[in-house]
Amino acid sequence: MFHLWNRNIKSVKLFFRFLFFQMATLIHTLADHNDDVNYCAFSSSCLATCSLDKTIRVYSLSNFAELPYSPLEGHAYAVHCCCFSPSGLVLASCSTDGTSVLWDTRDGRRLAVLEQPGASPVRVCRFSPEAAYLLAGAADGSVVLWNVQSMKLYRSGKVKGGSLMACAFSPNGNFFVTGSSSGDLTIWDDKMRCLYNEKAHDLGVTCCDISSHPVSDSENGCKYFQMASCGQDNHIKLWLILFADFLGVQLKYKCTLNGHSAPVLACAFSCDGQMIVSGSVDKCVIIYETSTGNTLHTLSQHTRYVTTCAFAPHSPLLATGSMDKTVHIWQLDLKQPCAGDTTENESKVAIEDWSEDDVSAWLCAQDLADFVGLFKMNNIDGKELLNLTKESLANELKIESLGLRSKVLQKIEELRMTMISVAVPDEFLCPITRELMNDPVIATDGYSYEREAMENWISNRRSSPMTNLPLHSLMLTPNRTLKMAISRWLETQQK
Ligand SMILES: *[C@@H]1O[C@H](CO)[C@@H](O)[C@H](O)[C@H]1NC(C)=O
Ligand SMILES: *[C@@H]1O[C@H](CO)[C@@H](O)[C@H](O)[C@H]1NC(C)=O
Ligand SMILES: *[C@@H]1O[C@H](CO)[C@@H](O)[C@H](O)[C@H]1NC(C)=O
Repeated sequence: MFHLWNRNIKSVKLFFRFLFFQMATLIHTLADHNDDVNYCAFSSSCLATCSLDKTIRVYSLSNFAELPYSPLEGHAYAVHCCCFSPSGLVLASCSTDGTSVLWDTRDGRRLAVLEQPGASPVRVCRFSPEAAYLLAGAADGSVVLWNVQSMKLYRSGKVKGGSLMACAFSPNGNFFVTGSSSGDLTIWDDKMRCLYNEKAHDLGVTCCDISSHPVSDSENGCKYFQMASCGQDNHIKLWLILFADFLGVQLKYKCTLNGHSAPVLACAFSCDGQMIVSGSVDKCVIIYETSTGNTLHTLSQHTRYVTTCAFAPHSPLLATGSMDKTVHIWQLDLKQPCAGDTTENESKVAIEDWSEDDVSAWLCAQDLADFVGLFKMNNIDGKELLNLTKESLANELKIESLGLRSKVLQKIEELRMTMISVAVPDEFLCPITRELMNDPVIATDGYSYEREAMENWISNRRSSPMTNLPLHSLMLTPNRTLKMAISRWLETQQK
């Protein structure tokens, strides 16, 4: 019985995952650098990119036009990393030339050149959330906090036995994390005292990011920061960091996100913490859903290593940069299926009615983007897709590899399965996620929600997702009647 339940949940989820599948559309390609793109970073109005070609380029997000003062020149060697201050008024860049440079983003004026002690190549830089400090990490393992007001060195430290490759500040600025080529993640407090060290990625850490949205643990009432790290071991790891005066700091491993077949060079959270994007030596970009670890998209348009990726803070844009010298800008169709939202209409197209483009989108979502051309050429729409067999894949589509034929067939089979569970009663769906509820709870607005979704919701705001009115209390009570009704319904579906 338990087994059946699980199986059913899975197939139902799969259906809804696809229903609310978000499109990622390539809307623009920047091809101005004449060497590897090393890094890209957003402010609320601009995108900055930096390159092995020694320059930084700055673009307006309104039309992707390069700003008049761009490119910014002055670094003597490759520019590894760049970042905006939280206000967007200052841009920092760092380089193999051993300096970090601060630029005024209004006119491109150089405000300061900060020389790393020992003149070691500077790999990463990051502003603290209040922009009081700039953190700069270098190839010799040195970590420096610069006071941005006085442009003076505030604190410095060093990691042992490796280059500094990654760093991220906590959203409140109380601590920061660094990652090194020796594979260690190190947590430091704002006075640069080393609090914690852990071996995280066997062959070296390449990047890390901390979500600006803490998650709360309902059992002990603690707030955790979510961190993603990635490395030469092809993995992305998710971590929870607890930082409390009375408990000190704890780093808890949560899970590993798989999908890349080569070292992962970049990872970043979306602004709301709900998605993670990664870029790899395998040339792919993968977008994951943080809560489940599911792959939402695999983007395979870059032709060489993907070195950097970033979500824009206030618009549904993603930028990915590569050693192919380009930066791709993707528009994410973030149709959050909220309660009362009419957009769910259009995604509820029955599979039989899918156009060839719908099939293409589905192929991409299944990690089968390589087949888009072939399926288009054969005019495969939804009806045709459901009709495909082992024989037609081999004889008509001429997919030679047995492994690939099986993979495609399996995905089609999963799709057929989802059609069985189309008619999920609406009251069984969480109004926030539009997924079948597993642990429904009643909020004080009188509506029932999936516990996890609602807890996430109220960790950021105190309004009802259904009515938008303030919630008088954040109490959540299990809706046992609903839970039983869902489990009964699932049993009948199984028959
Ligand atoms: C939703 O579907 C209904 C009925 O098919 C249609 O009348 C309505 O225009 C659709 N709304 C949107 C936003 O597509
Ligand atoms: C799908 O297969 C069925 C049964 O084999 C057939 O009747 C139908 O015409 C096929 N549909 C398409 C679109 O090929
Ligand atoms: C449980 O959920 C159902 C369906 O949303 C609702 O009709 C019912 O009133 C809820 N139970 C309680 C005690 O609120």
